[in-house]
Amino acid sequence: MSRLATDLARALDPTVLSRAAGIEPDSWQSEVLRTDHPRVLLNCSRQSGKSTTTATKAVHVAVYEPGSLTLLMSPSQRQSSELFRKVLAVYKSLGRPVPAEGENALSLTLENGSRVISLPGSEGTVRSFSAVRLLIIDEAARVPDETYSAVRPMLAVSGGQLIALSTPWGCRGWWYEAWENGGNAWQRYRVPATDCPRISPAFLEDERRSLGPWFYEQEYECQFRAAGGQLFSEDMIAGLFSPDVDPLFT
Ligand SMILES: Nc1ncnc2c1ncn2[C@@H]1O[C@H](COP(=O)(O)OP(=O)(O)OP(=O)(O)O)[C@@H](O)[C@H]1O
Ligand SMILES: [Mg+2]
Repeated sequence: MSRLATDLARALDPTVLSRAAGIEPDSWQSEVLRTDHPRVLLNCSRQSGKSTTTATKAVHVAVYEPGSLTLLMSPSQRQSSELFRKVLAVYKSLGRPVPAEGENALSLTLENGSRVISLPGSEGTVRSFSAVRLLIIDEAARVPDETYSAVRPMLAVSGGQLIALSTPWGCRGWWYEAWENGGNAWQRYRVPATDCPRISPAFLEDERRSLGPWFYEQEYECQFRAAGGQLFSEDMIAGLFSPDVDPLFT
């Protein structure tokens, strides 16, 4: 195929771009790569590939929509930067199809004027952007309601797309509300671990035993579990985890 034809195929279909980057998308991943629905929720198991898929979508937007702005958000700068590293990995494995004008640990600016920026999770620092083409919120169940309220208006004028990906984390917060009560405003994808060809039943059995049902059913079965009737409240459990501390094992 000529270079022009290859480029056109990638521009028209992000799954072609994904394959060129070495990732054969699962069928749900193909749908997510192609959807232009303005509000998308990905309630997908740990390690199912939700960050990789949205990172690939970010690269597609940056390369083929000159001048576009893509923001990556999560509960902490560390987690946003992790997603940003996936963006860079896809961009590099495509051979940097549009040269970079600026590239650092937090942002990528292309010569076509497109930008991809990774943001901290705190509300004060994320207010300054407008005309956002694509907003990706990773670990969305743990992003505070106030932060979510602060970023939503950035999409208003541009008619941009919001993709919020997570595993459930209790029956509370904007992401839970959007999933349960958000109606037709949202397009929903639910991918339990048993639907992921890369996660073995033996691994899941092990995880079920060591995590216990409250964590396992949320992390791998995409089910929302309230803390009601338990010894600890949801706020207490949430308070045990800090998004700013690096995990011991990655
Ligand atoms: N379609 C695919 N083919 C091959 N490998 C894949 C595919 N999708 C994802 N992966 C790989 O699976 C691993 C997990 O992907 P990723 O980090 O995107 O998952 P995640 O759902 O965001 O996980 P977590 O919940 O832990 O953040 C990565 O090593 C990624 O490269
Ligand atoms: Mg992830």
